[in-house]
Amino acid sequence: MRSVIDVPDLSLQELQQLMDTAEDIIARPAAYSECCRGKKLATLFFEPSTRTRLSFEAAMYELGGNVLSVTGAGTSSAAKGESVADTAKTVSCYADIIAMRHPKEGAALVAARNASVPVINAGDGGHCHPTQTLADLLTIRREKGRLDGLTVGLCGDLKFGRTVHSLITAMSRYEGLRFVLISPEELKLPSYVKNDCLKRKNIPYIQTTDLEQVIGDLDILYMTRVQRERFFNEEDYLRLKDSYILTPEKMKKGRADLCVMHPLPRVNEISVAVDEDPRACYFKQVLNGKYMRMALILMLLKEAGRL
Ligand code: CP
Repeated sequence: MRSVIDVPDLSLQELQQLMDTAEDIIARPAAYSECCRGKKLATLFFEPSTRTRLSFEAAMYELGGNVLSVTGAGTSSAAKGESVADTAKTVSCYADIIAMRHPKEGAALVAARNASVPVINAGDGGHCHPTQTLADLLTIRREKGRLDGLTVGLCGDLKFGRTVHSLITAMSRYEGLRFVLISPEELKLPSYVKNDCLKRKNIPYIQTTDLEQVIGDLDILYMTRVQRERFFNEEDYLRLKDSYILTPEKMKKGRADLCVMHPLPRVNEISVAVDEDPRACYFKQVLNGKYMRMALILMLLKEAGRL
């Protein structure tokens, strides 16, 4: 059974197809409004979410399907000690496809190995978040017209930020990319991402702590929240949480065609005043995420022979 747990589960060609389908859904939404009639998506969210869960659910409704939802570990039998494997086997009896978020790295993979329907990883701990990457890729392609030859700055919590890990994994497959990794020393990109995605492929990158020094070089600035829920120590979080705050003043140093992205939720790292700047693309990302999730649901249900 085909599931999507991490970005490499999708080939470059499939990424392109998903983006093309999303564009077609945007252009002709009525043509898709009955595609999933009679089908059910189960959203199993054992960790908080606004965008990912609601966009999966909106995606399924806009495809004409239905949704079963678990929100929070405390409201399901996980609270009684049920394993992820048993949950996946059980939900497979009710739903045609599962989207799961879990605080533990690898939980979605365990679910996929035990489910008899496709499983989509909607974020597993600090590991990865492939459908956020789908939203990010469509946003970059729509805003910049391409995914090759870009200088991509990623700023903030590069250690725990799973959206960053997935985006670098995806973007490192395109040509002519250059990465600028901006973080405090304690929140640098994990070595496994650096080694697997950047060093092994000889992709140029620099690491810096200074956003203002590099902002003028960037095509994309991907801001991230310091991930409070992944810290072992509240004092460290409080010390690091406001390391970077993007303000209109700092935006003056960015290029006229800079694209500012953020997976959201935002805390302080982008001043609300930046929202008025035409280079702010983070709410476009939110909408693009719904269309990409529609495209992914369609692809997986078709492959599973359920459409
Ligand atoms: N970007 C993202 O995953 O947002 P939520 O946590 O609100 O789903």
